[in-house]
Amino acid sequence: MRMSLRFILPLLLVLGAIAWSGAPLVGSLIERWFRADVEMRSELVFNSIRDTVVELATAPGDRKAQRRIDELFKTIAQDERLLAVGLCSPDGKLTNQSPAWPKRLACPKVTPAPHAFVVEAIETGPILVATFSLAANDSLSPRLVILHDLKFIERRSSSAEGYLAAALGLLALSAATVTVLVARITLQGWVRAVKQGLTPPAADGANDQPVPPEVAPLISNIRKILRDMDAPRGLGEAIKVDWGPESLRTLLRSELPNAEILVVSNREPYIHNDDDGQIALQRPASGLVTALEPIMRACGGTWVAHGSGSADRLTVDENDHIQVPPEAPTYTLRRIWLSEEEQDGYYFGLANEGLWPLCHIAFVRPVFRSSDWEHYVAVNRKFADAVVAECKTTNPTVLIQDYHFALLPAMIREKLPDATIITFWHIPWPNPEVFSICPWKEELLSGLLGSSILGFHTQFHCLNFLESVDRFLECHIDRERSNVRAGNATTLVRPYPISIEWPPLALAGQPPVPECRKRILERYGLKPSVRLAVGVERFDYTKGIADRFRAVGSLLERHPEWIERFTLVQVAAPTRSRLEAYRDTQVEAQNQADAINNRFGTDNWKPIILVPTHHEPDEVFTLFRAADICLVSSLHDGMNLVAKEFVAARDDEDGVLILSTFAGASRELHEALIVNPYDIQAMGEALADGLSMPAEQRRDRMRLMREIVGEHNIYFWAGRMLLDASRIRKRSNLERQIAIATTPGKPRQP
Ligand code: F6P
Repeated sequence: MRMSLRFILPLLLVLGAIAWSGAPLVGSLIERWFRADVEMRSELVFNSIRDTVVELATAPGDRKAQRRIDELFKTIAQDERLLAVGLCSPDGKLTNQSPAWPKRLACPKVTPAPHAFVVEAIETGPILVATFSLAANDSLSPRLVILHDLKFIERRSSSAEGYLAAALGLLALSAATVTVLVARITLQGWVRAVKQGLTPPAADGANDQPVPPEVAPLISNIRKILRDMDAPRGLGEAIKVDWGPESLRTLLRSELPNAEILVVSNREPYIHNDDDGQIALQRPASGLVTALEPIMRACGGTWVAHGSGSADRLTVDENDHIQVPPEAPTYTLRRIWLSEEEQDGYYFGLANEGLWPLCHIAFVRPVFRSSDWEHYVAVNRKFADAVVAECKTTNPTVLIQDYHFALLPAMIREKLPDATIITFWHIPWPNPEVFSICPWKEELLSGLLGSSILGFHTQFHCLNFLESVDRFLECHIDRERSNVRAGNATTLVRPYPISIEWPPLALAGQPPVPECRKRILERYGLKPSVRLAVGVERFDYTKGIADRFRAVGSLLERHPEWIERFTLVQVAAPTRSRLEAYRDTQVEAQNQADAINNRFGTDNWKPIILVPTHHEPDEVFTLFRAADICLVSSLHDGMNLVAKEFVAARDDEDGVLILSTFAGASRELHEALIVNPYDIQAMGEALADGLSMPAEQRRDRMRLMREIVGEHNIYFWAGRMLLDASRIRKRSNLERQIAIATTPGKPRQP
């Protein structure tokens, strides 16, 4: 309607102006036509009676002739437009006239030759005085005067002006209506063409139609703008920023102003346990927590996680909230309570007996139970409801963590369609053949595609995911831009190698390296001369703990000079012990350690010290600083942050990292001694190389690794994802604006 008025009003104004200025012109034209007509009629009347009048007028004294003239005049004047007819003598006297001759009108003074037409105004209005000389070329002959009423001309010209205005109005209206109709049809065509031009081609080529040439330039302009917004920021560009808590806060303020941040993970960052009636605080051994906690400390927000501690319920408020970190709270931890059955089905069952072995190539067979799946779905729903309840805005930025929540992105998207959902998969993604054995593969993929961004540690895992989507779902994959379009939603699939805080909080209170070394050697009863290797993990079969013990055996066998001069201290936090595979892992590691110790150990020395307890970050860092070598021999690992923590702990630029080629960290830490953990002898040789590496080489390698971890720290990881999220937000705002602007009849948003 508004658009129609935009066309009609100007057209009416223009045509109104034409009518207003043109009507008087038309009126005077019409007057002139009618006047010429009246003059012609006068001549006709004159010609038809001239002879009779001449004949009768030549006998002025003849009364009979005079009466006949009067009658003739009376008859002629009966014509409705003739007012009167009169005869004037050569000396200007009115000798005969029809009855309606105006009393005050005398004979015209001017002598016509042969006739004259003059307009006179009398009391009743304008009249035309047509004077004819009865004898042509004789100005002294009597004159016949015919009076015409001109009022009818005025009447006709003014009604002609009215008709003209009405006709122009009608014309304006029809022209405007036709214009509006044509404009609408054209616009709809353009909108269709623009939308079609911007829609990525369907996999089956169903929407593959040529773009009309008139909209092609517009489409290519819009595409360019969207492409520019989409262009992945190169690492080079990103590392120009010195990434830290402050730069992350600045980025949030500038790129995602007023963004509400929510993190969701299974593992909570702070666990409260009941320790003999006392409440003890524990920081879990979790790479995920190590990575996410500094971000939440920097940005604030709400972290939704399973409250797994035995004293967790005692420390929350009525909304199940607790402000953390305990020493200086900056964000809210919202705890979710799970029953034993829920934990068994969702966490131990589907997540850790199904998805964990499915995604890690460690040759442990995944177990899929329908009852576990049902709990997995229900717990994901429970977390989705909690996230929605915690949100204060309709478009929060939700950071979902890991394989426990593959269904959560789509569930949240359903309730909060405008949310920016960033999901990070902390473990590897298998190839499509392996993934195909999962009975709920389609559901898992569709759930994850509710995310705006889906992140993996490496490009390789991204490609595996895209291949799986390609194999099992109907949707469009844009490999160049690395995104998946399912329905109306697009998910960006990108590698974001996770990292750690730099400098790490746990480093702050650490004594100098020699002091750390002294403490650790004393703690484990080791001689000052012993060379120390360390391993720090959860007791997980993916970590290759027993394999590294075998490598120690190989070292001592092939390089006996290290007997009594080398010890591996292995710290391993028991984890998921309810599961047989994990109990077996611990037993196998313990047996392996015992076997090596029995074979090579002496009364005063053991080559392997296995400490199967949880260690807090401070203790772990002291251990790292005390070590000559850190040994990371994962059989398969998404990233492995222990490797990066070891590098971060060594501000003395010493120490050797031995790193599995199957850990994501090996893609970044090229200066480590990279090993295949399945090749025990080679791993033993790497230990020997590390022990005899010259100090200078150790320093050069460590410097380069510290550079990369320092630059690509956890703020860099989060910053890149948030930058991509902000680009996605801007892009969808732009698309919304284009849609509003190009949808006919749709009201503009304020
Ligand atoms: O590697 C995946 C992961 O979630 C890590 O982020 C974390 O280190 C580990 O698993 C924690 O496992 P859980 O929470 O089951 O103890």
